[in-house]
Amino acid sequence: MSKKLKVGVIGLGGIANTHMPGWIDSDYTEVVAGCDVVESTMSTWRDKYGIDRVTNRAADLIDDPSIDILDLCVPNNYHAPLAIAAMKAGKHVLCEKPLAPNPALIRDMIAARDASGKMLMAAQHFRFTSSAKTMKAEIDSGVLGDIYHARSWMLRRAAAPTRPGFILKDQATGGATIDIGVHILDLTLWFMGNPKPVSVTGVARTELAHKPGTFSIWGGNIPKEMDVEEFATAFVRFENGSTLILEVSWLLHHKTDGEDMQMWLYGTEGGIHWPQNAVYHTDLVAQKHVDRLLTDNLELKEAHAQECIEFAEAILQGKPSPVPAEHSLQVLTILDAVYTSQQTGREVLLA
Ligand SMILES: NC(=O)c1ccc[n+]([C@@H]2O[C@H](COP(=O)([O-])OP(=O)(O)OC[C@H]3O[C@@H](n4cnc5c(N)ncnc54)[C@H](O)[C@@H]3O)[C@@H](O)[C@H]2O)c1
Repeated sequence: MSKKLKVGVIGLGGIANTHMPGWIDSDYTEVVAGCDVVESTMSTWRDKYGIDRVTNRAADLIDDPSIDILDLCVPNNYHAPLAIAAMKAGKHVLCEKPLAPNPALIRDMIAARDASGKMLMAAQHFRFTSSAKTMKAEIDSGVLGDIYHARSWMLRRAAAPTRPGFILKDQATGGATIDIGVHILDLTLWFMGNPKPVSVTGVARTELAHKPGTFSIWGGNIPKEMDVEEFATAFVRFENGSTLILEVSWLLHHKTDGEDMQMWLYGTEGGIHWPQNAVYHTDLVAQKHVDRLLTDNLELKEAHAQECIEFAEAILQGKPSPVPAEHSLQVLTILDAVYTSQQTGREVLLA
């Protein structure tokens, strides 16, 4: 039986392959075409999935009225123009993260979404893990009281991507700040209930990448052409009085074999640690600490696949986007202010 929603994938490299199992497993979607500007990538994808319709022109998919969803898996700087053209052509858009590399472009995408009535979602796959869904439900039950502080980080040791789409400003805009900062910040804000940010003090810099011999565990030395930052830190204040300390790096002399991604939230009634999924309370009557570990055993697909499945379900069931573009706008507003704060050496006040 033919499935209801026809999907076209633009950009057939690394991340596109993690989306494919979701489109294939979904009861509602069928991938009908792919696009990439590199001939060999296109033919590898065509042969792997047995989808004959491939092209090197994104417009071929955007202009095709039989396609319902465009899945954008291209480098950061192509997200906004392709998404806007796709929504204008009446497509729903699932777009890899960051939704766009700056907030102005996300505002343009939201305007195109509203004008078209289509769904727009950033592929923030960490939201679709069992551990994150379980922790989000626990926090939303109110057990933390008022959340007044968060600490979160995503730190890698010698684990910088080396592909042009990540390390060249003209394709990526920024480095670790928007590449991995977008993951941990999206999750942190979501857990906090997306309070409105009001000010950001940040630093975004490169210290190790250009030292002779600096390598990535994913293969080879860091290309000398890399012109984006490897490290960022920020202090964020929110309208409700809460605060956040954020740290991200692709290259840090940090104790980890690959990646250390953590979040701590502190509230008036309790605290949490993710991804360990521990909850900490203090029993003031019994005068003792009460610690719990949540059980997270939701039966979900791998997170990238799960996000595709839930995106399609939301379209067909008329539900809101599982990751509202307004949340992505908030994330990029903070990360963009980190860059501004780096340039000015000052705190940035957000409108
Ligand atoms: N969610 C995650 O965990 C995750 C992980 C990796 C990458 N990403 C995101 O996915 C996007 C792509 O990253 P990747 O790792 O797949 O990179 P990649 O380099 O492996 O693949 C990108 C592909 O896009 C193609 N491409 C470039 N410009 C194009 C255009 N104009 N039209 C059609 N094809 C084009 C390239 O030839 C390449 O095959 C980036 O935005 C990145 O931030 C997300």
